[in-house]
Amino acid sequence: MGPVKVTCTGTAGLAWPPAHRDMLRSPPLVTMPSDRTDSLFRRCGPEYQAMSFTVSTLPAGHNFSVASGQTLLEAAIAQRIGLPYGCRDGKCGSCTAQLVAGRVSYPSGKTEALAGQPADACLTCQAVPESDVTLRVAELETVADIEVRILPCRVAEKTQLGHDVMRLRLKLPETQRLQFLAGQYLEFILADGRRRAFSIANAPHDDALMELHVRRVPGGEFTDYIFDELKEKTVLRIQGPLGSFVLREQSQRPMLFLGGGTGFAPIKGLLEHAFHLGLEQPMTLYWGVRAARDLYLPELPERWAAEHPNFRWVPVLSEPDPDWSGRRGYVHEAALEDHPDIAAYDVYMSGPPAMVEAGRAAFEGRGLSADHIFSDAFEYAADSPSFKG
Ligand SMILES: Cc1cc2nc3c(=O)[nH]c(=O)nc-3n(C[C@H](O)[C@H](O)[C@H](O)COP(=O)(O)OP(=O)(O)OC[C@H]3O[C@@H](n4cnc5c(N)ncnc54)[C@H](O)[C@@H]3O)c2cc1C
Ligand code: FES
Repeated sequence: MGPVKVTCTGTAGLAWPPAHRDMLRSPPLVTMPSDRTDSLFRRCGPEYQAMSFTVSTLPAGHNFSVASGQTLLEAAIAQRIGLPYGCRDGKCGSCTAQLVAGRVSYPSGKTEALAGQPADACLTCQAVPESDVTLRVAELETVADIEVRILPCRVAEKTQLGHDVMRLRLKLPETQRLQFLAGQYLEFILADGRRRAFSIANAPHDDALMELHVRRVPGGEFTDYIFDELKEKTVLRIQGPLGSFVLREQSQRPMLFLGGGTGFAPIKGLLEHAFHLGLEQPMTLYWGVRAARDLYLPELPERWAAEHPNFRWVPVLSEPDPDWSGRRGYVHEAALEDHPDIAAYDVYMSGPPAMVEAGRAAFEGRGLSADHIFSDAFEYAADSPSFKG
């Protein structure tokens, strides 16, 4: 594979909020070899050229190289090998592969998601090889086909949708398009290299602007900035698309979508894509929030239900208002109550990690194979040193 041009366009002369001018400043234009795009900000030293190991995947039979100290997933993303992943922080388990041969270590110590897993489970987002390695893993060809890029983007629209949710619509430079799959996410890159992940809420057929739904985290550095200071026309820097929470378009199985809070965002993208494709199997959305005021776009699933006879939605409130006559409790329990035959479904879940984990355990307990559970957990300890500048 040839070199990939990573364009980090400067933004001099644009209107930055003074307090954040330094935080969000872009670096200059750089051109890197293709196997260095994702670890752009930390692997420019001589150690990068040091020993590398080869990773082979089963059953796909791909081979890729991992530089000394690089994680398996970093190398795979850079070389467009479609390993599945989510949080990249050792927490969600989406990147788990079976280590068939070879040795790995976990220098970051972030191995939370290995708890309870078989001894040969390997978290590719944290694992660093100590020899050549063979992994058994279900690769995603379509995700691998897409180039991960760093781009500037301008805030075209900022709209408060609910008491703690802001919708941002981002415009890319005129000559640029960000190719992505419905359900993927992007990361804002701060000047110090830290990142903040947000799911893309629009579908690829409607990509003039990139839509995000941002929930304000009390005391959250970046989300406070978005709510209190960010102005329309501000230019930010993003990297994307990332993640493997995408629609399995070839599947004929009925689909359940579970969103917790702004976990609705990637599901909106998945559903709009499914409607656009004309998929005909039954699709049900369970949107879990605390109280009715947290349903920040209720008219949208209402409209989908009116337009698509194969779609219905169920709002589920965990701390309902006294006059609420709809479903109460946890969203995964409501879905399970209504679907004793859940083993026949494809289930897509996104939102708080606790919701995703509870859903996964409950559904697997009722016989749904892990191969039919797709999820994006909104892990938030994203200040991973492996992605710092
Ligand atoms: C793949 C992925 C996709 C995501 N998509 C979305 C999305 O579409 N919409 C969205 O609103 N969020 C999404 N998130 C979560 C989002 O990235 C975090 O809420 C955000 O990074 C918080 O940044 P901050 O600087 O405001 O908070 P920080 O300053 O980083 O955190 C401040 C404090 O709040 C805690 N905290 C941070 N985030 C959360 C949280 N989400 N929930 C509870 N406590 C938190 C931290 O532990 C810390 O104590 C996604 C996360 C991931 C990994
Ligand atoms: S644990 Fe590796 S991607 Fe979440």
